[in-house]
Amino acid sequence: MAHDHDANEELGPPHVEPVTRRGFLMRLGVGLNVVAASLVAVPVVGYLFSSVVKRKAQQAWIPLGHASQFPTGETRLATYRNPFTKPWDGVTADIPCWVRRTSEDSFQVFAINCAHLGCPVRWFAESRLFMCPCHGGVYYEDGSVASGPPPRGLYEYKIRVADGQLQVRGGRTPTLAESV
Ligand code: FES
Repeated sequence: MAHDHDANEELGPPHVEPVTRRGFLMRLGVGLNVVAASLVAVPVVGYLFSSVVKRKAQQAWIPLGHASQFPTGETRLATYRNPFTKPWDGVTADIPCWVRRTSEDSFQVFAINCAHLGCPVRWFAESRLFMCPCHGGVYYEDGSVASGPPPRGLYEYKIRVADGQLQVRGGRTPTLAESV
């Protein structure tokens, strides 16, 4: 017992840093900053993540028709129904596009909207050019810009042929921010 008493006397009381007013306020400030940063970061990260999920969920393979409907060497208008719309969207959910068939198994499908400000472009088979009625934008038959204000070529869909059906990857309307 006497031995324990001596040992306690040698060790003395544990050393505790005194909490100063300045130190306390510093810790409080750091803590509040962490809380504020979390309050900002959580919704921002959630928004970014949800937009990625949403974007993926709004794409699907959509049939344009049997491949035989599109003769080789020609460019024809086709229409598909956007599957990510509501019944009350009416005809606005019917999306026109230009289908170009260059060989037996080679297709290009373009959005009808001009890459300048979105006016619908028309195909002129005689000159083999797409022309925009709004500001004179002109595109070659492969969708690249020939002249005028469009900053890039026509939006080109991803395509595939499955069970004889020509299909496009679509649903979400392409925006000007998307590259070809
Ligand atoms: S919208 Fe087509 S050239 Fe301006």
